[in-house]
Amino acid sequence: WTASVAGLAIAYLLGSTPTGYLVGKLLGGIDIRQHGSRSTGATNVLRTLGKWPAFVVLLIDVLKGVAAIVFAKWFYAWLLTSLAPPTALDPQTFLPWAICLAGLAVLLGHGRSIWLNFTGGKSAATGLGVLLALSWPIGLGAAATFCVVLAISRIVSLSSMLSASTAIALVCALEQPLPYRLLVIAGGLYVVARHRANIQRLVAGTEPRLGEASPHHD
Ligand code: G3P
Repeated sequence: WTASVAGLAIAYLLGSTPTGYLVGKLLGGIDIRQHGSRSTGATNVLRTLGKWPAFVVLLIDVLKGVAAIVFAKWFYAWLLTSLAPPTALDPQTFLPWAICLAGLAVLLGHGRSIWLNFTGGKSAATGLGVLLALSWPIGLGAAATFCVVLAISRIVSLSSMLSASTAIALVCALEQPLPYRLLVIAGGLYVVARHRANIQRLVAGTEPRLGEASPHHD
């Protein structure tokens, strides 16, 4: 149990790594949480600091999600083999559930970082990384939806939410283990819930499009 919880703590800490905050401090000398949407995600870094800092944040945040799932697959498989038999744990049951919880932990860490007083980003990029490592067809479906909606609307928040919804639809439609289904559904709903302020601005018609000057959010 201790090792299982330690694995989840590592996934949470990985998600907690405050990429956007650090890039804001290092490249712009600013606290990104005082600017734009207040989010530490790549979109807010883009509108505040520009393309290259945003690209770095996007890439690292996606990789955090990939790394958490790759780590969980390796770590919990290692844990199972290192437990002296007979063990009560059935690997076929234990592994997918452990991976599911590690996926949720990295999303939570990104959205509520322990290093930033439990503030952070909206977990869309990290969520994409989780999807790509969990099931690449679902990850690609979500990424494609994001690109198409962004090309049409030029609104990142709308693209992120429809991308999360596509992932939920795909994981329900495709053959997937129950824990993976629950991870994608709960993770997708978490991403949408983190966009509450964006939803209010979308309804009010004040959500900025890509390249538009940002109104003072929140
Ligand atoms: O992934 C975050 C994006 O969907 C919205 O970011 O800064 O416009 O709230 P932001």
